[in-house]
Parts: sequence; structure tokens; C-alpha cells
Amino acid sequence: MVVETVAVAIWAMLPAYIPNNVAVLAGGGRPIDGGRTLDDGKRILGDGKTWRGTAFGTAAGVAVALLLNQLHPFLSGVVVADPFPIAAAVSLAFGAMLGDILASFVKRRTGRQRGAAFPGVDQLDFVVVSLTVTLIAATGWFLDTFTLPVIVAVLVLTPLLHVTTNAAAYALGLKDEPW
Ligand code: CTP
Ligand code: MG
Repeated sequence: MVVETVAVAIWAMLPAYIPNNVAVLAGGGRPIDGGRTLDDGKRILGDGKTWRGTAFGTAAGVAVALLLNQLHPFLSGVVVADPFPIAAAVSLAFGAMLGDILASFVKRRTGRQRGAAFPGVDQLDFVVVSLTVTLIAATGWFLDTFTLPVIVAVLVLTPLLHVTTNAAAYALGLKDEPW
């Protein structure tokens, strides 16, 4: 069923969707790269990747997974998926932040300024890394949950959700660019 597939995709990805949005709200302070540049004269990551944003974003993603686990008994008829093992909660959330950080590394190496759009990468960086890290850290749960149809749903839905939430955050004045 398409509805069930989409429900599992959104439920299982919520701990990965939340971190980047929380980082936007909580970010600031010391950048992860400490202001350092590489031999190319460009910042390693840039001022947009901070310790505080990363810590709060990861914690929020893990908290959402634990909250969903509490709701799980009431949703068993709606979402047909197993609760999040702690390894999956952490890897989904931290993997999402890591994907965004790696994308900034690539953006700086390719001469993109902080905040520049990188179509495709901006929308899917965090999904690919989040899923890869979770495949390694919580293999059994991952293979039970992310069946091929669920992965396809994630790859189709995520760019749509990403574009919508970032446009909304921009319209609300929470984010400097609409991507
Ligand atoms: N943020 C943060 N720490 C992170 C990710 C994001 O503090 N690990 C905060 C920063 O304040 C950042 C904002 O969230 O400016 C928006 O995130 P993002 O769009 O990922 O960063 P950009 O500023 O656009 O920088 P980049 O070009 O490197 O993506
Ligand atoms: Mg950006």
C-alpha cells in the first residue's frame, strides 16, 4: 500500500528530518572548523556549521525518536515499523548532521560561499549519509524498516519536504536563504 509505505518513510525519517531544522534555530557560536582554512585558502566548513547547532540538532533528533517510541503502541495500526533502537536514533540524527557538514566541506572546495545553493546536494546530502550510517550502526532494524519501496518514498518525499520547510523558514524570517 502506498499510504503505508509513505507513513513508514516519514515516521522512520523524522529523527533525520528534525536535526537540520533545529540547528537553524539553535545554531551560532563557535564554528566547528574554528575559522580555519585549507591550502586552497577557503574555510574547511564555514561559519554555518557550529558546535551548538550540531549538538542541539542531534539531541533533538534522538529525542524525537524516543518520543515516537512512546507513541508506537498507539500507532501500531497506522505505522507498520519497529521502534527505534537507540543506535538507530543516534545514527539517523547524527548522520543527518554529518551529511550536511560533509556537503558544506564539498561546497567550500567547489568555491561556493556560505549559504550558496547546491541543488540536489542540499536536498539529499543528509538523507544519504543518515541512511548509510544507520545501515552500519543498526543493520537489522534498517533492513526491516527501509525496504526498497520505503527508500524510494524517502528519495521522492525528502526533496519536496525540504523545499517546503526551508521556504517556510525563510518566509518566517528564521533562515537567511530559501534553500
Ligand atoms: N547550523 C549550525 N550548525 C550546523 C548546521 C546548521 O549552526 N551543523 C545553523 C547555522 O546558523 C546556519 C543555519 O543553521 O547558518 C542554516 O544551515 P545551512 O543552510 O546548512 O548552512 P549555511 O549557512 O547555508 O552554510 P552552508 O553554505 O555551509 O550550507
Ligand atoms: Mg544553506
